[in-house]
Amino acid sequence: MSQDQGPPPEPDKAVALSQGPARLSAQGIRGGYGRGDVVKGVDFRAREGAVTILVGPNGCGKSTLLKLLSRLLQPREGSVLLDGTPLRDIPTRRVAQRLALLPQGPVAPEGLTVRELVAQGRFPHHSLVRQWSRDDARAVEAAMASAGVTEFAAQRVDELSGGQRQRCWIAMVLAQETEILLLDEPTTFLDLKVQFDLMQLLRDIAHRSGRTLVVVMHELNVAATFADHLVMMRDGVVVADGPVREVFTSGNLARVFDLDANILTDPETGRPICVPRLATDRALAAE
Ligand SMILES: Nc1ncnc2c1ncn2[C@@H]1O[C@H](COP(=O)(O)OP(=O)(O)OP(=O)(O)O)[C@@H](O)[C@H]1O
Ligand SMILES: [Mg+2]
Repeated sequence: MSQDQGPPPEPDKAVALSQGPARLSAQGIRGGYGRGDVVKGVDFRAREGAVTILVGPNGCGKSTLLKLLSRLLQPREGSVLLDGTPLRDIPTRRVAQRLALLPQGPVAPEGLTVRELVAQGRFPHHSLVRQWSRDDARAVEAAMASAGVTEFAAQRVDELSGGQRQRCWIAMVLAQETEILLLDEPTTFLDLKVQFDLMQLLRDIAHRSGRTLVVVMHELNVAATFADHLVMMRDGVVVADGPVREVFTSGNLARVFDLDANILTDPETGRPICVPRLATDRALAAE
């Protein structure tokens, strides 16, 4: 990753960002696939210039919520607002110019090169009168450099490793140059260093250019490190929602994940870290 890596945000800054104005919001949304709701009445706010991280157990509805927020699914009840306007009233191309979704586990068409895949991120900016331009080429090269995939540009996406491929998808979403990015598990398959580099890059994008990010992930300590605003979901509802230090507690981890964990504090940043407790450790401690 070539992006400068800024210092961690001041705690107050994270709290302020966590309470900033909402760019994308949902009120009382319910929805799913066919019969029965997967998302069962969720209020959600993605704050301007902030990294909002969404965590929750497998199958609790995180990806479904992102689909509802990006209009891939229509809510059965409630509404999604993009800068105060109902999402359903905004033309599709205009939505794609302002909001990008990286779905979970995307599959690239066979034989596509990395540069061709990343270039697809520019499609929402094209029209009959506005075809490929120098601006598009610049955005594609910049996105590939940011995601660290320039060296693979001419290679086929389906011939890369899982982590390399994941970074190509991230480059594609960055090339879209939207103000709002919804990323469903962008760090899955990445080694720890690359996860951190990527999250630093995404945080810089939010903090330096005021873009609004929503990221789903399972690595709780990475989430606690990078979230300005943390949302915890279980069984289709939001259980806890707020600045990391308020939300990342043993009580909430037990409530949301049935996880028995101690919460420690990173002496350098003051951020919380969770250390899951093993049943055998508990038994030993009790002796
Ligand atoms: N396309 C689909 N059609 C029908 N049911 C679906 C579909 N996608 C998801 N579901 C169901 O919706 C529920 C929530 O799925 P969702 O993908 O939103 O969970 P998640 O929180 O993203 O889980 P994970 O952490 O495993 O990605 C699950 O019970 C799942 O079986
Ligand atoms: Mg998912």
